[in-house]
Amino acid sequence: MVFKDVLMSFPSISWTDTQILLLFFVVILLISEQLKNRKPKNFPPGPTCYPFLGNILSLDAEQLHLQLTKMSKTYGDIFSLRLGGIHCVVVNSYTMVKEALIDQADTFSGRSSNAIFKNINRVKGIIFNNGYGWKQQRRFTLSTLRNFGVGKKNLESNIKDEINFLCQAIRNTDGEYFYAYRLISNAVSNITCSLVFGRRFEYTDKKFQTMILLLSRALKLEGSIWTQLYNSFPNLMDLLPGPHKEMISCFKQLCNFLSEEIKAHHADWDPSSPRDFIDCYLTEIEKRTDDPEAGFHEEGLCCTVLDLFIAGTETTSTTLRWSFIYMMKFPEIQEKVQAEIDRVIGQSRQPCMADRPNMPYTDAVIHEIQRMGNIVPVGVPRFTYNDTTLGGYFIPKGTQIIPNLTSVLFDETQWKSPHSFDPQNFLNPQGEFIKPDAFLPFSAGKRICPGESLARMELFLFFTSILQVFTLSPPAGTKPSLEFELGITLSPKPFKMTARPRWQ
Ligand code: HEM
Repeated sequence: MVFKDVLMSFPSISWTDTQILLLFFVVILLISEQLKNRKPKNFPPGPTCYPFLGNILSLDAEQLHLQLTKMSKTYGDIFSLRLGGIHCVVVNSYTMVKEALIDQADTFSGRSSNAIFKNINRVKGIIFNNGYGWKQQRRFTLSTLRNFGVGKKNLESNIKDEINFLCQAIRNTDGEYFYAYRLISNAVSNITCSLVFGRRFEYTDKKFQTMILLLSRALKLEGSIWTQLYNSFPNLMDLLPGPHKEMISCFKQLCNFLSEEIKAHHADWDPSSPRDFIDCYLTEIEKRTDDPEAGFHEEGLCCTVLDLFIAGTETTSTTLRWSFIYMMKFPEIQEKVQAEIDRVIGQSRQPCMADRPNMPYTDAVIHEIQRMGNIVPVGVPRFTYNDTTLGGYFIPKGTQIIPNLTSVLFDETQWKSPHSFDPQNFLNPQGEFIKPDAFLPFSAGKRICPGESLARMELFLFFTSILQVFTLSPPAGTKPSLEFELGITLSPKPFKMTARPRWQ
């Protein structure tokens, strides 16, 4: 029996009455949706929103950063979008991002609560935490990373050891082409592993390989439209199959991997001689039993460690992959970097951090790779802790903020050559290194990336050590491509390269 026949079986309700009733309900639903999602007075302008979904389906997840930057030309540097029932404000240009994240640092330092991360309990670490708990976890992480040598000699020597393993693996390719992704991810991940687990993994270790693949897959899905849909309609999406389920499963498997490592640490933990981040965190758990709000417990440990892997591995390894592509695409720039390496370091020793101030050209090239690579193109969304104004618009407390870092790194008012790969963006007429204020790949303000020093150390040592030993080029008959894939990071599409030893 069809719906109409069922209704007809109630003698007092005619089909016309039912149609009017249905229409009435739809109108009421639309009006209540409009009222619920009404923009506050003087809220930033934005494109037309559709009922219920808002602008979700108009967004192009494959090149969101370009789309948002283009929209800023129509709606201005501060414009709004609605993602389901969530109002968000996109902040564009160096001036506006600075006014929000730096000049109003406290107001803009919230991290938007996110249904998908609540589902997998990822809100107790650093990235998705807020308030007192976030401050404590972030402060502890920064000071522990510092104690384990970020910015110091002992970490530098760990990184150099890992580079030796990597260079040997590259040498084993015998000048044949290879895919850079796996080797670079393994090597960079091992730096995080040595800080967090106190050990590195062999590049052939199956479990380690699985972890890296899960991490990369989870990050790709995290940047997809499915995450937005889940965050807007969590109850409905829980009932539906789709990539959001795969992402949740990837994160759960990663947590299991980390829990095993934590269990193993427990077994031979000696508080008087901490070996790594996990040991220090276990001591902190014991010290903070009377401060539950700080969030030092095993769940917090798992979340914080997961945050370090997520934020610290894919980012640095993606930047290094971009560095290879740019060096293959601009062989004359690669040659100039190699000439500086040969002049300042030579071939008899490995590069070290003390060399950086003497290598302005190489430093400028690395910064230009970070600018053009633009690996966190729309930042990580924030939310406002208070009502405020930005660029003359009213932004209420609890509004989601998207700091469009693409609009800063390519801001035409801030860069000599905003749209082309040009190390001169970071050099003065005397050839000295300069860092323009709009260089914000690590974002800014209270949530600025706490891994910046570590990442900069890794980038300098990996980049110079590889170019000291090898010349990179695309396989014969191919050209390096700047095509990208957008997940939570902007990464190059898988590519092949050859690494020819410079000296036999
Ligand atoms: C080239 C490498 C890297 C880039 C470009 C990068 C960039 C970023 C960006 C844009 C943010 C968002 C900040 C905001 O909310 O505005 C961030 C946050 C974060 N990054 Fe990095 N990052 C890199 C490497 C690392 C490394 C190596 C680590 C860890 C050891 C790390 C740990 C974190 C953490 C924990 C956060 C969250 C901070 C918070 O919410 O308070 N990152 N990073």
